[in-house]
Parts: sequence; C-alpha cells; structure tokens
Amino acid sequence: MSLQGKRIVVGISGGIAAFKAVELVRELMRRGAEVQVAMTNAATRFVGPITFAGLTGKPPVTDLWAEDYAGEVHVELGEWADAIVVAPATMNLMARAASGLADDAVLATLACARGDIFFAPAMHHRMWAHEATQANVARLIERGAVMLGPVTGTLANGEIGLGRMMEPEDIADELETQFARGDDLAGRHVLITAGPTHEDLDPVRFLGNRSTGKMGYAIASQALRRGASVTLVSGPVNLPDPRGADVVCVRAAREMHEAVMQRFEEADVVIMAAAVADYRPEQRAPRKIKKGNGLQLELVRNPDILADVGAKRGHRPAVLVGFALETENLEQAARHKLERKGADLIVANAASDGLAGDTNRATLVEASSATSLPEMSKHALANQILDRVSALLQRQPRRTATKAGPDAPN
Ligand code: C5P
Repeated sequence: MSLQGKRIVVGISGGIAAFKAVELVRELMRRGAEVQVAMTNAATRFVGPITFAGLTGKPPVTDLWAEDYAGEVHVELGEWADAIVVAPATMNLMARAASGLADDAVLATLACARGDIFFAPAMHHRMWAHEATQANVARLIERGAVMLGPVTGTLANGEIGLGRMMEPEDIADELETQFARGDDLAGRHVLITAGPTHEDLDPVRFLGNRSTGKMGYAIASQALRRGASVTLVSGPVNLPDPRGADVVCVRAAREMHEAVMQRFEEADVVIMAAAVADYRPEQRAPRKIKKGNGLQLELVRNPDILADVGAKRGHRPAVLVGFALETENLEQAARHKLERKGADLIVANAASDGLAGDTNRATLVEASSATSLPEMSKHALANQILDRVSALLQRQPRRTATKAGPDAPN
C-alpha cells in the first residue's frame, strides 16, 4: 500500500463537503496511512466527531481547551504528521490560515506543521472566484502549501461551477504522488530564469512584455520543496522571493545572459522560463526622448540565452529545459526548438492561452515523446515539469551536444 506508514492529519472545516471527509479518512487508511482527525467547531455541526473516532480509533481533536489534552496537542500533532490535508477547506478557513490565525484545533496544528500542507477547497463558485479567496490562496501557495482542486462540478446548491471538492480518491492519489516525489532533487542545483526583460529606450521608457514570472517562480518553489538548491535569475516582477532561493535580479536580456553564463556550469538543471526580449533598441538615449512627429526605433537582436547554454554545455547542465510560446503547429515548432537550442525538454504553450494567469496548459516535448497536459495551476505544472527533469537526471549517459548557436533563424 502506497501510503503505508505515513502519518496524516485530516483537518476538517465547516462546509457541506465535510461528509466527504469520512470517505477521505477511510481511503487514506485503506492505503496504509495512520490518520488523526482535527475539526473546526463548524465542522462538528456537519459531521459528528464520533464518526471519525469510530473510523480511526482515536477521538478527533476539536477543542484546544479540552482538559484531557495533556500539554499542547497542536504542537504534538504538527510534529507527528508527515502531512496535513484540510478537506474540505472553506473560504473562511483559508482566510484565517492565510492571516496566520491559530485559534482552533485545525489552524493551530497547521501553524505547527513540520510536514507538507494540502488544502482541498470546497465552496460556491463565487466564493472561490472572490478576490479575497484568490489572494489568500496565493499567499498560502507562496508559503509552500499545495492546493488540491477545487474542480468543476455540481455544487451543494445544484449549480455547476468551479468550487467542488476534489474526490477523496483523487486527493489520496495526489498525496501519494507528493510522497513519492519526496526529496528527489536533493543535492541537485537548479538554475531558473523567470519573468520578462526590460530593454531600455531612455531613462524612463522600455520595451517589455506581459510575463509575470509566475511560472518560473512556481518552478523555483517546487524545486526547493523537492530538496534542490535553487538560483533564480529574475527579470523585473512583482513577486516575493521563494524562500531559500538565491535570487539574482536582472533587467535586460544582456544582463540575464551574463548572469546565466556565469552560473550554468555549476547547475545540474537549467530551466529557462523567462520571456526574454528578442530585440533591444540599438541605442539607449541618455536623456528622455522628446516628442516629435514620429519616431523610428532601430532594434538589434539580443543573445539567445537558451541556445547559448545549449551550444556551450558540456558535462553540465545534465538537463536543459526551455519554453516555447507558439501560435500554430505547437508540437512541431517545439520539437524544432528542442533540436535547434540543444535542449532536452521544451514546455510548449499555445500563445492564445496568454501569459499572465495562474493556470497553464502545456505540452511537454522531448526528443522521443510529447505529453499534452490538461489546464492546471502553474504550481501543478511546475511539478509535472520537475517530474520529467527528475526522470531525465536518472538517464545515462549524459549528452555533450554542440548544436546551433544563438544566431540560428527561428
Ligand atoms: O526562440 P523562443 O524565444 O521562442 O524560445 C523560447 C525559449 O528560449 C524560452 O525558454 C526562453 O526563456 C528562451 N530564450 C532565451 N533567450 C532569448 C530568447 C528566448 O533564453 N533571447
């Protein structure tokens, strides 16, 4: 059994989907996990604690003030658990967790967690779409939590929308996958580029693009979770540094190029998620350019960082990953890019899907395979990419390719 010996706290908050937590507890136990339940007050209104006591053989923790808890039960549970999964996670519970409140059994245990934290949100689709929920979810993810769902389906009131809790079996599958990943990148050094580049026209204007950096930052935080040491070479973005990453801030493509060229030989894995400007103004005007009747800009090519690493790599990096944003013939164009840039994996996105959202739909293209993935969060996609990277790292012998240089045509 795949969750054999794993110690899991199931935290339950007060939503209709709380009844499904019964099934989740059973499923986790069926797969070999040892389960302890913690419930918010509201959760106990939906399902009786006695149900979980019967299933697990242990009374759920429901009240931090109960006299029969010797010592600090939340500290003990936080230390005991290999993982905590909050299912269902309501809008209210995630808001409280995001603000760092710790005034009930579930929140206090989350605050003391040693292991991984998972939330399986369940709520009406408008509550899920609410700006406050989205901001809180983003904060929780930034701090390392994993969101499992929600999924689109029938909600408690019969409407169909995005807000339904992931099915218990799927939650158990996700936990298994996370445990299997474990520290698979421990001892590996991963260099990641992220964000746009800004190519200055004058002291106040630049040419840029809409990249938010979220994809590269998600890869950085997931690689850190999986034990890697991470260097993140980032263009200008509005995102907090992933905790534990060595962040190198750059602005223009040439700075990014220099930062990567200085470091790529120390990296086992290089992942180029940045949206690097292909051109820069030939001249950067020393003073603000004055208005006239028109303005002609002379642009020159920037170095292609990915192609340069692909051409110069020897022993390291063992795995080189690029991205491709294409409007047509996605897979074919990505495969062409794979060869031309000397990469091992290209993450191909349809240009129509945009750059800025929190989700992404990608096809992972390798020399002899292509896997089309459904739309998923950038963090989930980051893990899919790292799963492939991890598999490629196991592959021997390592390649020592010298392919096309930076000036190869598109
Ligand atoms: O050729 P294209 O821009 O479509 O390739 C995209 C991939 O190449 C991305 O991984 C991007 O980070 C990388 N790239 C780069 N330097 C450039 C242009 C793209 O590293 N100047």
